[in-house]
Amino acid sequence: MYITSVRLFTDHYPTARYYPFNVPVLRTTSQITFQRPVTFFVGDNGSGKSTLLEAITRKCGVHTWDQPKRHIAHENPYETRLADFIEVVWGEERVAGSLFKAETFRDLADFLDDVAVCDPGRLQYHGGRMLNTLSHGQGMLAYFRGRFGRKGLYLLDEPEAALSPKSQVTFLEQIEAYAATGQAQFIIATHSPILLSLSGAQIYSFDGPRVQEVRYEETEHYQVYRQFFATRRSTAPAEGRHRAQEAATEEGDAGVSLPALAVAESS
Ligand SMILES: Nc1ncnc2c1ncn2[C@@H]1O[C@H](COP(=O)(O)OP(=O)(O)OP(=O)(O)O)[C@@H](O)[C@H]1O
Ligand SMILES: [Mg+2]
Repeated sequence: MYITSVRLFTDHYPTARYYPFNVPVLRTTSQITFQRPVTFFVGDNGSGKSTLLEAITRKCGVHTWDQPKRHIAHENPYETRLADFIEVVWGEERVAGSLFKAETFRDLADFLDDVAVCDPGRLQYHGGRMLNTLSHGQGMLAYFRGRFGRKGLYLLDEPEAALSPKSQVTFLEQIEAYAATGQAQFIIATHSPILLSLSGAQIYSFDGPRVQEVRYEETEHYQVYRQFFATRRSTAPAEGRHRAQEAATEEGDAGVSLPALAVAESS
């Protein structure tokens, strides 16, 4: 592991009123440790994942690719200051890092394509095509494919944003393979139950009174999807079920009868 822990000096925060120092879970958590090459941050919208990820990014000296803010409606002198109140503890080796944010990917893609105009050899890192000639998800997948082969610390904020479920599985396999090389450490904020299933990863939930490690099956994401699909099946309109039953029978699949399905669903 390149980063072994992050400490938050909550007693020294300069204010309790303003963002980011007013995010509840970041006021009660004093340390997060990293024991595996892949760590996930999960939690409800607004729980504080991006805020901490960004502070870690700043503290590590990694470029955030943010555009200067054009609005002054909520000018806040504390906005980027959480980084001043955390410590990132490095292991034996310090490496370069990068932050991926779905919301700033377009700017990054423009930059990489401009670089490739001057140096076409760089296209090999994104599957040989200009990122702007690919769809949103294709572009991200192409970028990811070439990005993590080098030794580094990779901070990713919702990398699944534009990816289909199938592409998420492809991405999951990429992360698994890169992590297995021992050269890459990933810290990923995600809402994807597919990514979260990566075996051997650490998962930190931001949903409790403080950030705490949880098992995959304990995440709200896993439970909500599981519950949703179970309920969705049992509330499917009867007409739809009949059609599915007829189709199965036409294909020679005597299959499971509707009453049997109902029993299976209610069990
Ligand atoms: N620039 C900002 N100024 C003021 N408050 C902010 C700002 N950015 C986020 N917040 C607030 O801080 C809290 C944490 O936001 P954060 O973006 O870290 O959540 P998140 O866990 O990443 O959520 P999501 O899953 O929606 O991305 C939220 O209550 C949010 O409203
Ligand atoms: Mg976020």
